[in-house]
Amino acid sequence: MTKAVKYEKNYINNKLQNIVNDDLVSFHMPGHKKGKIYDKLGYENLVKNLYKMDITEIIETDNLHSPEGIIKDSQERAKQIFKSEKTYYLVNGSTCGIQAAILSTCVPGDKILINRDCHQSAINAFILGDVNPVYIKGSICEDTYTINGVNEKDVIDAIDNNSDVKVLMLTYPSYYGMVFDLEKICTYAHKKDMVVIVDEAHGAHLGLSEALPKSALEQGADIVIQSVHKTLPSFTQSSIMHVQGNLVDKKNLERFLKIVQSSSPSYVMMSSLEIAIDIYDRFGQELMKDLLTNIDNFEKELSQIKGIKVLKGHDSTKLFVSLKDLGINGYDLEEMLRYKHNIQVELSNYYGVLLICTIGNEKEDLDKFLDAIKSISKDLDIDNNLDKSDDNVTKLMKLNYPNLIPEKIISPRQAFYSNKKEVLLKESIGQISGEYIIPYPPGISLTSPGEIITQEVVDYILECKKYGMHVSGLKDSSLEIIEIIER
Ligand SMILES: Cc1ncc(COP(=O)(O)O)c(C=O)c1O
Repeated sequence: MTKAVKYEKNYINNKLQNIVNDDLVSFHMPGHKKGKIYDKLGYENLVKNLYKMDITEIIETDNLHSPEGIIKDSQERAKQIFKSEKTYYLVNGSTCGIQAAILSTCVPGDKILINRDCHQSAINAFILGDVNPVYIKGSICEDTYTINGVNEKDVIDAIDNNSDVKVLMLTYPSYYGMVFDLEKICTYAHKKDMVVIVDEAHGAHLGLSEALPKSALEQGADIVIQSVHKTLPSFTQSSIMHVQGNLVDKKNLERFLKIVQSSSPSYVMMSSLEIAIDIYDRFGQELMKDLLTNIDNFEKELSQIKGIKVLKGHDSTKLFVSLKDLGINGYDLEEMLRYKHNIQVELSNYYGVLLICTIGNEKEDLDKFLDAIKSISKDLDIDNNLDKSDDNVTKLMKLNYPNLIPEKIISPRQAFYSNKKEVLLKESIGQISGEYIIPYPPGISLTSPGEIITQEVVDYILECKKYGMHVSGLKDSSLEIIEIIER
């Protein structure tokens, strides 16, 4: 027998192997939670052989870019399960679905109505296709600054005020599981012949229970893109796109899918999508019912611990846990959970951590999280940490978030190709930004390339810096320098 190979310099694999050996508890993506669900439901042999099934377009394996055989049949089955009219497998994540959707519905110079907190993949599509976004402001939770999403009235007003725009794109649900009345918006937009694209990256599982918010397809969206890998058990990067109604030119959409997807689409991704969809169909509802019951009990117990705040999304598989009343920021909480309790959350921000629970999570995962929080709060000596004189005391700084959309001077594409120069952030007011400024929370771009840098934004960033909040987008992590566009 050949001896197992030991690599000295196996950077990625050694680290991943450690994570596997540590049996890290996962409240993050991907939804299969380190594959436990495959073993539990009897898919282990199929998954074990995936590396042997990593193949290409040969006789009998069909072709994702013009499917006529097994891929066509698999997509047809997915279409029926998700009650769509046409379903496409995506092997480059929802990123490529979002890009194909935008590029196929907008021609260069067109405008698109879109929520300000849209994903970067949409903005990249604007750069590629010279599309001009008209942003709709989202609302955020006053307590934790997490994203709630748009409200219906703002979207309807935006539609009324932009009669020249023919495409509306919205993120639904938000990363934090918050939703809005998408049905009302779709009905209104359709009266104006607008195509509605929904980035449902975080909602592939919504059809599994009536206790979850209604899916975007159910509410009438024309193109829906779902990251199966985020909330269902498929491999990272495997997503799907659904189309319904007669507003979308499917041939044109397929033309763009060919452009944005690899010419060697991964059969491992496609196989993993098919497995996830099979699990969804055969076991999904039962597993989701158990998960929601477990989450209910977990939330009740967690909320009883003094000083702990739990914010359950409308989609209750998303839980935001905050220890801010105890003066513990989310970044530190994430590290405590990981390094002292072997639990990894999806993300942290200044005020707390986000848990993504999927049908791949067991009750024991939630129990471990509960034990960890009990232990952390015990170590903290809560009675001394909480200010008893005021129940609503906010130990961590309450910030004055400027929920604004600055004036746009040039398009995302023009900004991308413009010459830029570095200046001190405090001296950049009135200039055109060459960079994104995205504070966490809430993770929405306060200023994007091509927009004017305002006094309010600069003041806020300096405040963020003082309290150690993360701000992404700026190349200078010390938050002193920003790139502006040379006029
Ligand atoms: C709202 C939203 N849309 C789209 C995407 C892109 O999805 P994917 O990772 O499947 O490409 C993400 C990824 O984080 C996201 O959060």
